[in-house]
Amino acid sequence: MAVIQDVHGHTHDHPTGIMRWLTTTNHKDIGTLYLCFSLAMLFVGGFLAMGIRAELFMPGIQILEPEVFNSFTTLHGLIMVFGAVMPAWVGFANWQIPLMIGAPDMAFARLNNWSFWLLPIAALLLITSFFVPGGAAAGGWTFYPPLSTQGGIGTDMMLFAIHIFGMSSIMGSINIITTILNMRAPGMTLMKMPMFVWSWLITAYLLVLVMPVLAGAVTMVITDRNFGTSFFNAAGGGDPVMFQHIFWFFGHPEVYIMILPAFGVISEVIATFSRKPLFGYTSMVYAIAAIALLSCFVWAHHMFTVGMPVTGQLFFMYATMLIAVPTGVKVFNWTATMWRGSMTFETPMLFAIGFIVLFVIGGFSGVVCAIVPVDVQVQDTYYVIAHFHYVLVSGALFALFAGAYYWLPKWTGHMYSETLGKWHFWLSMIFFNVAFFVQHFLGLAGMPRRIPDYALQFADFNMISSIGAFGFGLTQLLFVYIVIKCVRGGEKAADKTWEGATTLEWTHLPSPAPYHSFETPPVVK
Ligand code: CU
Repeated sequence: MAVIQDVHGHTHDHPTGIMRWLTTTNHKDIGTLYLCFSLAMLFVGGFLAMGIRAELFMPGIQILEPEVFNSFTTLHGLIMVFGAVMPAWVGFANWQIPLMIGAPDMAFARLNNWSFWLLPIAALLLITSFFVPGGAAAGGWTFYPPLSTQGGIGTDMMLFAIHIFGMSSIMGSINIITTILNMRAPGMTLMKMPMFVWSWLITAYLLVLVMPVLAGAVTMVITDRNFGTSFFNAAGGGDPVMFQHIFWFFGHPEVYIMILPAFGVISEVIATFSRKPLFGYTSMVYAIAAIALLSCFVWAHHMFTVGMPVTGQLFFMYATMLIAVPTGVKVFNWTATMWRGSMTFETPMLFAIGFIVLFVIGGFSGVVCAIVPVDVQVQDTYYVIAHFHYVLVSGALFALFAGAYYWLPKWTGHMYSETLGKWHFWLSMIFFNVAFFVQHFLGLAGMPRRIPDYALQFADFNMISSIGAFGFGLTQLLFVYIVIKCVRGGEKAADKTWEGATTLEWTHLPSPAPYHSFETPPVVK
């Protein structure tokens, strides 16, 4: 037991060791738990990616049985989305939002604990589903019927795991919305909030909107499998295409759930290292809101080949392209923030600029996929794989790295190694492009996704892609080393870590140690 002083100045006994982490209601502890969990899941999902790339290294080899390969692709997708990227952003939210708005902690501290501890349960269920008859193949991470309405108990375990991940997300979002709307320090009006807080407020609303839709889809698949319903079974009067509509009504906004907090982080980092306030703050807020709103009206661009009326195809094509407008506003604003700034290129800034460059490539290939006649050609090919990995790896993951390096000194009290950080960036940048750029060519040439073997004509690019992927995977071990080194010691971080003084004054307030959130809310100038 350790004696701790709470926000009211009262002293309490607090558990130590494992019980501290199991029972914690402190936003910083819970943020740390989220971040450690998501880093572990990044390596589980990464291990699966290495298996996929090993199988695809050469045509004709059989490192993984075809069924195991299917399970690998399914679990890689689910673990990266629900286990790695989403919890990482909630971890950032836990650490940063109370500090940035001057709140003593999250609004619902015990709910916060429960939201986190659901995650290891869900992850365990998902991972063990792999070892159970039937595996977790079930037609990919999107679990389309009729494939997902057949198969063994592994699929049921996978579906239940998704339910639990969803519960955790909904509870986390409710907590974030309530904290931001009710617990800002006096004077912190909505339009004064740091951009990261804005991006999370909008993300949380999006989560509360679409997660229950996913839960509905999952529930219907579960009852189709176990209770004799026919929601998605044509023989019983149901419609398998209906599943795709419901799934993607969740699935497309989900893409933005993973990327909007990234927009927030990039806005903070670019401003700090350009030593200028963020250009176009108000337009940035409206652009994020517009992207979130539009993302709810584009879902059928994932299903152009299912047999849709031309009017439907046209609507979803134009609506999808419309998202490029607010996204363009953001990229313009970041560029204008850097324009004539007194820029320096520490690791967070390198990852932020890398993010912008590569995310724009992913955005452009997204517009390409949005064009119906093109999409009909590239549907289910490696072109789509290349597109969304540009958005999610050099998008979400690079922004997570930018944010991690940016706030590590604040979180740990120590500086990370700048030299190693730069190595991490450049190796990631090079290997990422080697791994994924060539997949555009493979896709355009017609290589299908989710197939463990391929024609000889695809051999060269696949070998290059696999080498890049192995390099990228190994490089991420360097990140773990840098973080551990930083947590354990090193140069003490200054109260004001970075020299830029921007809209971020809030994060530069000296941060008390865990269990010692702000004794009194900071005063707004
Ligand atoms: Cu989409």
